[in-house]
Amino acid sequence: MKPVKVGICGLGTVGGGTFNVLKRNAEEIARRAGRGIEVAQIATRHPNPKCDTGTTAITADIFDVVNNPEIDIVVELIGGYTLAKELVLKAIENGKHVVTANKALIAVHGNEIFAKACEKGVIVAFEASVAGGIPVIKAIREGLAGNRINWLAGIINGTGNFILTEMREKGRTFEDVLKEAQELGYAEADPTFDVEGIDAAHKLTILASIAFGIPLQFDKAYTEGIARLTTADVNYAEALGYRIKHLGVARRTDAGIELRVHPTLIPADRLIANVNGVMNAVMVNGDAVGSTLYYGAGAGMEPTASAVVADLVDVTRALTTDPNNRVPHLAFQPDSLSDHPILPISACESAYYLRIQAKDHPGVLAQVATILSERGINIESIMQKEAEVQDGLVPVILVTHRVVEQRIDDAIAALEALDDVADKVVRIRVEQLN
Ligand code: HSE
Repeated sequence: MKPVKVGICGLGTVGGGTFNVLKRNAEEIARRAGRGIEVAQIATRHPNPKCDTGTTAITADIFDVVNNPEIDIVVELIGGYTLAKELVLKAIENGKHVVTANKALIAVHGNEIFAKACEKGVIVAFEASVAGGIPVIKAIREGLAGNRINWLAGIINGTGNFILTEMREKGRTFEDVLKEAQELGYAEADPTFDVEGIDAAHKLTILASIAFGIPLQFDKAYTEGIARLTTADVNYAEALGYRIKHLGVARRTDAGIELRVHPTLIPADRLIANVNGVMNAVMVNGDAVGSTLYYGAGAGMEPTASAVVADLVDVTRALTTDPNNRVPHLAFQPDSLSDHPILPISACESAYYLRIQAKDHPGVLAQVATILSERGINIESIMQKEAEVQDGLVPVILVTHRVVEQRIDDAIAALEALDDVADKVVRIRVEQLN
């Protein structure tokens, strides 16, 4: 059978990795796919010194690839929202299948893109958009198809996890580690996407849609980054038996779906609390299977290429199947998506770590306890660091039981209004993940 012809748009970190993996493993890939997968054209403005592109046709114009009648599958690896959207929609219009690693594109414009793809009977595959090399989309969409998914929680930004790990283990500064993540090709073009949690929210939006069968709703995701985390909180969390991880959490409740990205205390003995460096991990809890955990490299040249190439193999295998019988883009049939709402963060439920800078004199703890008990907030543990009194202020650290966020918001406002409390109260959510 004739090889499938692929056009790669973008020869950066992931594009270069994809080219190299396709070339190096060509024979093995053909044995799996049933026919060869050949890169017929590459669109790039700059050569990638890590790729020997040999005689492969190169163009500087990405639209040459989508308009090339020879190309069966367009691989979109240019990133960003605007040009990438134009490119993908044009490829679909031209009847080409698309493979993309672009989580921003899928999270923000995916509903429109999938509708167009269904209309044209083409596939848009996006395994590499979430958690780099971990086949978590396939696991949820296909491997767990018999389950009602209850919740999922993941470390889904490698750069953020790399920064937190290096800060905790080596005491390095935030800026220093971020610079290294950029040099290693882990960080987004705009690294604020990594540190502010936007990249993780893109990925969480995608995972929630395929887990719960809802349209993509990135604009409703609650997003909080890691930039405001202090070493003090990292150390107090450790003393309480927790690790702080930047977590994306999606949970189904009767009232709606929680969709939130924020720093989170996790019990230190959980496997996921020990996922370090650029590694990602996603826990998925289904009613039949219970909790499952998927772990691997969440960013980088060849790990991400591994997912792109797997999609190319999937698309190649599916070329001859009836379009109506293919795996649906968002796991559920397009006319069976549910309108279960996404909850605002104030209606989400979690346990909380609070750090209060309190005046060191009698009665302060009693006031704190009263404010919490009046709002029905149960304290799980409390710690006062006498040794750390500074300017007459002592850090009081406590962990609550699970409660709706609105009550914690009210309690924090009341605590901050006390004369005996200085500064803002630090609040970090806590998940037991059991
Ligand atoms: N910037 C992303 C990360 C790349 O660090 O996880 C992979 O999506």
